[in-house]
Amino acid sequence: MPKITSTTKLYALLGNPVEHSLSPLIQNAAFQSLALNCVYLAFCVKSKELMSIIDVFRKLRIPGFNVTIPHKVSIMKYLDKVESRASSIGAVNTVVNIKDKLIGYNTDGAGALVALKESCIDPFEKKVVILGAGGAARALSFYIAPLVKSLVLLNRTGSSAETLATNLCERFNVDSIFGRKLTKGVLLEELRDVDILINATSVGMYPKIDETLVDKTLLRQEMTVFDIVYNPFETRLLKDAKAAGAKIINGMKMLVYQGALAFEIWTGKKPPIDVMIKALAEALEGI
Ligand code: ATR
Repeated sequence: MPKITSTTKLYALLGNPVEHSLSPLIQNAAFQSLALNCVYLAFCVKSKELMSIIDVFRKLRIPGFNVTIPHKVSIMKYLDKVESRASSIGAVNTVVNIKDKLIGYNTDGAGALVALKESCIDPFEKKVVILGAGGAARALSFYIAPLVKSLVLLNRTGSSAETLATNLCERFNVDSIFGRKLTKGVLLEELRDVDILINATSVGMYPKIDETLVDKTLLRQEMTVFDIVYNPFETRLLKDAKAAGAKIINGMKMLVYQGALAFEIWTGKKPPIDVMIKALAEALEGI
């Protein structure tokens, strides 16, 4: 624990629920490793409380904070500025106070891309299938869309996948992004020649750890399968993919890299990635 003094800076996570978040662990490990006089705490904030909490944060000159479900979209209207990529994604997960102005960023998509690249997976000129069309899928697809040969978004609610695909095609001036309703037949068709499959839904997350959207017979050795779920760190989807001989990437790295990018925005310092990964791995072993 750092020595708490009258100059200790408070960073925070605002969300609901936040009790199970591992962000405090990662961020505090990073602050401690660089001997920064900072602490990071998680606060459970209901939607109707968000505006007043932001007002208090402004008055207290809190230097930075993260927001998570359900505030990633609603926070935007309380900020002074939203960085252009976060604005295009339509969601903010990181806020920094610069000279009493609150500026919003989104580090989820960039974090996911670093996680892929760090695992030696380059989406350049590949066919990528993303399951989901919510906030996480939006952030990810925004970063991946300009690189890939084709991108297929499959979602339980087909219309949100179609809308997202149309928006991305317009934004990047391409016609290689498609949105479809997630069905067994569509999965069979789309996974036949997929290079990278990404689960950007919450399916498979604790406590429903036996759930998966993809039948194991559709998984092949030539694929890379990336699951953004990090609890458990080997989801049913990843277990099945591993058994099929596919390369797998778990959600731990994305969690660490989105946090590391937030840390860098707040402190201007190079984040101690190894320390952050170690803190997370130790915590997940204990779950
Ligand atoms: P996040 O910000 O974490 O992405 P979200 O915006 O609520 O959270 O999005 C959750 C995603 O998981 C959505 O794509 C959701 O599909 P719908 O748009 O149809 O709601 C998807 N999802 C959640 N539970 C699901 C389930 N049981 N089966 C299929 N998709 C599911």
